[in-house]
Amino acid sequence: MKQKSIKEASSYISGKLSVKPTIGLILGSGLGVLGEEIENPVKIPYKEIPHFPTSTVTGHKGQLVIGELEGQQVIAMQGRFHYYEGYSMQQVTFPVRVMKQLGIESIIVTNAAGGINVDFNPGDLMLISDHVNNMGDNPLIGENDDDLGVRFPDMSQVYDKEYMQHAISCANELGIGLKKGVYVGNTGPTYETPTEIKMLRSFGGDAVGMSTVPEVITAGHAGLRVLGISCISNMAAGILDQPLTHTEVIETTEKVREDFLQFIKKIIKTLPQ
Ligand code: 6GU
Repeated sequence: MKQKSIKEASSYISGKLSVKPTIGLILGSGLGVLGEEIENPVKIPYKEIPHFPTSTVTGHKGQLVIGELEGQQVIAMQGRFHYYEGYSMQQVTFPVRVMKQLGIESIIVTNAAGGINVDFNPGDLMLISDHVNNMGDNPLIGENDDDLGVRFPDMSQVYDKEYMQHAISCANELGIGLKKGVYVGNTGPTYETPTEIKMLRSFGGDAVGMSTVPEVITAGHAGLRVLGISCISNMAAGILDQPLTHTEVIETTEKVREDFLQFIKKIIKTLPQ
């Protein structure tokens, strides 16, 4: 049943395309603008695609944008599915399976995240070097389909080392002060308490958000090369003496929009194959 749904969704999408995408992009809160840079785009609303869930959060468009970006064939998700919306881990990660079925070999995953590391500032971009799955669930729970990946996937190299090095070089060439750190995936929808943030810092976390980890686990299982970038949209609880709001998250992502766009475009232009 699962493979059948993946294939039905993939066939629906490929039926609208003349070329095969090679790079997948998941665009986080406020970062969907990158989708507007894609040339000769084919846009497919999630609600049209068989078996796709539909997105509910504002700031998320809910469509695939497929076309050419910096000379590469890309498939971008403008808006993703979050666990806190009530979707199962399987639903949250279904698009990753579909993009893999369509033929992508690499995936760039982006998000807006709260800064845990006190050396970070809102507006910083952070290269994700590793993650902590703190969601209390895992998209691979259940019967394993050996055609999709192994039962016990290694996660020690899930963030591709060569891609990390490539991202660092691109940031240097652009003069963007790229941070690097560990992303903690929490379920949300609440932001954390100050004590929870202390705990996550002691876990080794540098940034915290409500996404990305399920998609990266699934991408790793599927054998995709993964690059993750967080936009630090605000500092997490207890660092600054101010409450957290989704408005702040969106405002900051709008401020770093230009750097973010230039950075991701440069990464894509010369992404190692
Ligand atoms: Cl502070 N926490 C979580 N869980 N997600 C966020 C965030 C904080 N800031 C942006 N997204």
